[in-house]
Amino acid sequence: MAARRCFMVLLAVLVLAPLLPTASLAQQPLKVGVILPMSGPFASSIGQQVYLGAKLYVAQHGDVVSGRKIELLLRDDAGVPETSKRIAQELVTNDHAEILGGFGLTPLAFAVAPIATAAKTPMIVMAAGTLVIPEKSPYIMRTSFTLPQQTAPIGVWAPKHGLKTSFTLVTDYGPGIDAENTFLKVYKENGGQILGSVRIPLQNPDYAPFVQRAKEAKPEALFIFVPAGEGAAVIKQCAERGLVKAGIKIIGPGDVMDDDLLDGMGDPVLGTITSHFYSAAHPSPENTTYVTEFQKANAGRRPNFMSVSGYDGMALIYQVLAKTNGSAEGDKFLSNAKGLSWMSPRGKMSIDPQTRDVVQDVYIREVKRVNGHLFNVEFDRIPAVQPDGRY
Ligand code: PHB
Repeated sequence: MAARRCFMVLLAVLVLAPLLPTASLAQQPLKVGVILPMSGPFASSIGQQVYLGAKLYVAQHGDVVSGRKIELLLRDDAGVPETSKRIAQELVTNDHAEILGGFGLTPLAFAVAPIATAAKTPMIVMAAGTLVIPEKSPYIMRTSFTLPQQTAPIGVWAPKHGLKTSFTLVTDYGPGIDAENTFLKVYKENGGQILGSVRIPLQNPDYAPFVQRAKEAKPEALFIFVPAGEGAAVIKQCAERGLVKAGIKIIGPGDVMDDDLLDGMGDPVLGTITSHFYSAAHPSPENTTYVTEFQKANAGRRPNFMSVSGYDGMALIYQVLAKTNGSAEGDKFLSNAKGLSWMSPRGKMSIDPQTRDVVQDVYIREVKRVNGHLFNVEFDRIPAVQPDGRY
């Protein structure tokens, strides 16, 4: 009898044991360490926007996935790479964050990549846009954009629409250099001529002398890349120096016409043509809901392209956790993320299984006044543009 009871207990243990890890996992909250510039010059258009987008996703979809309660642990790196790195280490080691997200600027993503690799922690880039970022760790995935992807379409469009000569002005670091290289190549291949190129420091930029040089070159178009948050400052110089009055068209990837600042830029930007993956004016049911709910949650503030990158960062996390039964174990997470596709407020997007980078539609847009406010109004769509800009 005793032997029989012993056998039954052993049998129960053998049958139930494989289920135990899942059951106990489900009881633990899942901490997502979100590292963003929440202070300094990139706080408003990048840090806050990404975080508010991520928070909205959780509010809309509930904070429990596969039985695990999702906790966002927000940390401010103030845009300083050494700080991002220290915070990431603390999040993984002390707070037991199982996923890292955010990364507002390229150097901040670079700084954290080795930690993701060492800890085998999924790292979701929800902002930074330099093409090579996912190569820095096999645990990186991206839900934002790349500069080659956002730039190639305007490089094709401009020379075909009468803008045969251009001057380029970019911020002098990863994404700016990607934007400049892509534009130079694609624009020339399509018959355009480059009259000059300047690169401006990321820290404390003074746009005035560079804008003056651009004006003196007398191009038909001025191609601009500046990171989110800097658009208004460079446009102010263009207006003050009479570039717009001189008939020089401003073109570029959409960062310079950031929805966070656009309405304050005023008449000088009317007619500006950019190519980009997100506009608050994107006409789709998903985006109408997104903008309405974002504004409701945030005192009427308009969402920009960074917010939707944060929103979709959470969409990626939720979809993967649903497939892995709540496990964020690095290799399992990655294999379940590769190839995912979904409908975002931006339109269709997917995670390329080879590069772990984002594939998405890019739109050509013109700044227009709609109901008294400035918006990037989309008038053409290029489907499924690859991270490296091919389509
Ligand atoms: C980046 O640092 O990678 C970055 C930041 C803001 C942008 C684009 C790229 O608008």
